[in-house]
Amino acid sequence: MSNKVDVLLGLQWGDEGKGKIVDYLADQYDIIARYQGGPNAGHTIKIEDKTFVLHTIPSGIFREEVVNIIGNGVVVDPITLCNEIDGLKAIGVDPLERLLLAKKAHLILPTHRLLDAASEASKGKKKIGSTLRGIGPTYMDKTGRNGLRVGDILSSNFKNKYASIREKHLSLLRIYPEIEFDLVTEEKKWNESIERIASLTQINCEEYVNRAVNSGKKILAEGAQGSMLDIEYGTYPYVTSSNTITAGVCTGLGIAPQKIGEVIGITKAYCTRVGSGPFPTELHGDEGEELRKYGKEFGATTGRPRRCGWIDIPQLKYAIMINGVTQIAITKTDILAEFDFIKAATAYKIDNEITLEYPYSLENNKIEPVYKSYPSWEDRSNDQPLDDDLKNYLEVLEGLLNTPIKFVSNGPGREELKIR
Ligand code: GDP
Ligand code: IMO
Ligand code: MG
Repeated sequence: MSNKVDVLLGLQWGDEGKGKIVDYLADQYDIIARYQGGPNAGHTIKIEDKTFVLHTIPSGIFREEVVNIIGNGVVVDPITLCNEIDGLKAIGVDPLERLLLAKKAHLILPTHRLLDAASEASKGKKKIGSTLRGIGPTYMDKTGRNGLRVGDILSSNFKNKYASIREKHLSLLRIYPEIEFDLVTEEKKWNESIERIASLTQINCEEYVNRAVNSGKKILAEGAQGSMLDIEYGTYPYVTSSNTITAGVCTGLGIAPQKIGEVIGITKAYCTRVGSGPFPTELHGDEGEELRKYGKEFGATTGRPRRCGWIDIPQLKYAIMINGVTQIAITKTDILAEFDFIKAATAYKIDNEITLEYPYSLENNKIEPVYKSYPSWEDRSNDQPLDDDLKNYLEVLEGLLNTPIKFVSNGPGREELKIR
């Protein structure tokens, strides 16, 4: 930890266990801030026997003393946000006292979701596999300079601005196949939710965060999605529409690069992906099915089965490079304990050449992962030392990745974690 903004982000294609680790670390911080993405995220937190999935609200919300910021770079669906607030209240957590909303965060409109669905439908087999939460169209309106922001809610011409964007969307929709969508009902819910979130505390996020860092407050920036879904460096076009990487923290919260401290990169002990797009180490047969079954690999947002495969060292090295990762958290080591032997792709073979470099296109190149096999381990409870085989495996990974593995998670619960 440092008197800078630390970062925790996913090194793979999302769902690495960010929610769990952020919730664990949150009691060491004053502020947890989401910097990008939106309700396409599903961050699962398990405290004792209760499990909660957060989509928009940062994963520090279960810690009473911690301020949670939805930052400038996030796109906010008022309906999801209100549902989340209600869900938390129902289990005795009142988020409103410790939740701040950036004025510059963009709003997801019902017609953004409709456009998302129509655009995906028009792509046929080439569909991205979007969560259909309106993420792409909202970021398109942001960069196209048409967007509606949280800070606009209290302005007198909010309704007019909304109507004009809606109109634009409806004319755009004419180029797409028709989609079943109850716009009247969704708009009613949206308007009610807007009225509710109008009373949330809005901040100038960049001022707030910089003042906080300068006065010695500890801040952890929480990533959504994963590095391979980054709009710039992910497996384009099968990506999301934001910068999921460390650079996104600077734009998404309004802080300078020299104020970034530790960068904690999180990876599963294996690898998963939900939605379409290349996945070099994907397992299609029984092993993939076993990983999905043991790992309960079904999406926290959409419930879709996740594609499963072995850990991919060239992919992780790439993500570590792009993000400047200083420490690694590895999750789901308990799941691999179900196997006798496990594998890791230590290099790629492309056109008969062995390489560690991540190629420009994974679609056109025939990539053969080069695997090494390792003995699995016994999953042990936290009051026992790590099994020697797991310790050896972690050391192998540290050597290959040239980065220390600081956190080892072996269960979904808050306390199922070892710090090395
Ligand atoms: P996130 O999007 O990165 O926060 O991850 P998700 O919540 O979408 O998916 C991670 C899933 O793995 C959730 O169901 C977590 O409860 C669960 N999980 C996290 N860490 C571990 C672990 O070490 N072992 C097991 N068995 N489950 C874990
Ligand atoms: P968390 O934060 C896993 C994937 C979708 C799709 C692509 C684009 O829980 O790790 P979008 O809805 O952004 O247009 O979808 O990105 N995707 C995720 N996959 N975890 C996520 O978030 C994801 N958010 C988006 O499945 O392939
Ligand atoms: Mg998730």
